[in-house]
Amino acid sequence: MSLRDYDNISPTARLVAEMRRHSDIPFAEEIATRIGSAQLVREMLDGDAPAPELLSWMAPTLEARYKCLETALKTAGIKQIVELGSGFAFRGDAMSRTHPLRYIETDLPEMHETRLRLHDELRRDGVLPAQENVVFAPLNAVAPEDAAVLEQHLVPGEPVAVIHEGLLQYFTRDEKRATAQLIAGLLKRHGGVWLTPDFELNDDDSRKQWTHPHFARIFSVIARSTQSNLRDTTFTRVDEVKDFFSKLGFRVTPRAQIDGTFALSSAERVGTTPEQLDILRRSRILWELRLD
Ligand SMILES: C[S@@+](CC[C@H](N)C(=O)[O-])C[C@H]1O[C@@H](n2cnc3c(N)ncnc32)[C@H](O)[C@@H]1O
Repeated sequence: MSLRDYDNISPTARLVAEMRRHSDIPFAEEIATRIGSAQLVREMLDGDAPAPELLSWMAPTLEARYKCLETALKTAGIKQIVELGSGFAFRGDAMSRTHPLRYIETDLPEMHETRLRLHDELRRDGVLPAQENVVFAPLNAVAPEDAAVLEQHLVPGEPVAVIHEGLLQYFTRDEKRATAQLIAGLLKRHGGVWLTPDFELNDDDSRKQWTHPHFARIFSVIARSTQSNLRDTTFTRVDEVKDFFSKLGFRVTPRAQIDGTFALSSAERVGTTPEQLDILRRSRILWELRLD
């Protein structure tokens, strides 16, 4: 598989951070301010601020995505977590405040350095608590051999939960296979579970979002800068996801992301309509994968 320049995907982490500032996700406002995400999003939109119609879809979509992973991790009850493509979420620090966890956050080497600098700054300024059990490591999610770096941080024999959000949407089928191989290796050694909202379906409900003019505009900017068209990497239906990953040794269980266990704080702030919320409730899926 020819490796492309994955660093082109990293700026999207700033877009996500900017959308999160409309929610009550921990540290979201502080992080967005420090990384200048508002400016980056304006540049992406040729100087325009994000349209209300874009925010009304995107902010609750990204809030649900973040929060459903937290719920799923608590339900799984697994105490060591590996996150791929962590970006500026800093979920390890957020979760460790209330749960005793060993949390390994990873991203590409360049992004890893940027994240480390920001992390140090946020700790120094007392925004993030000092926590020894939150570790950062560089890791390319399509390079299964990179997983070796994780073992020095993991407790042998203890199960691991592998998570990611906003990562596999950018990957071709071959790249998704490589990530699945990396995760399968981890789960074979440790046991545990793979949890992600990242397998997008190109179904009727999703198309209502994709084809909305404001979404289409930002997606074409993302496609240009990341060299991946988010719509081309989708699956057509749940069974296609199950088939794809069963060939790689996984049993797949789809669940609703929005299951009543958390509030979608951004919906009111950005004017998401009840109809939009219904569509999100129906269409947003959290995928649980276990080795067969
Ligand atoms: C849309 S951002 C999502 C960031 C974060 N998960 C969040 O939700 O805030 C995509 C992230 O994937 C990372 N990424 C892209 N290609 C990657 C790869 N091959 N391996 C690991 N991380 C990658 C980028 O650096 C970026 O942080």
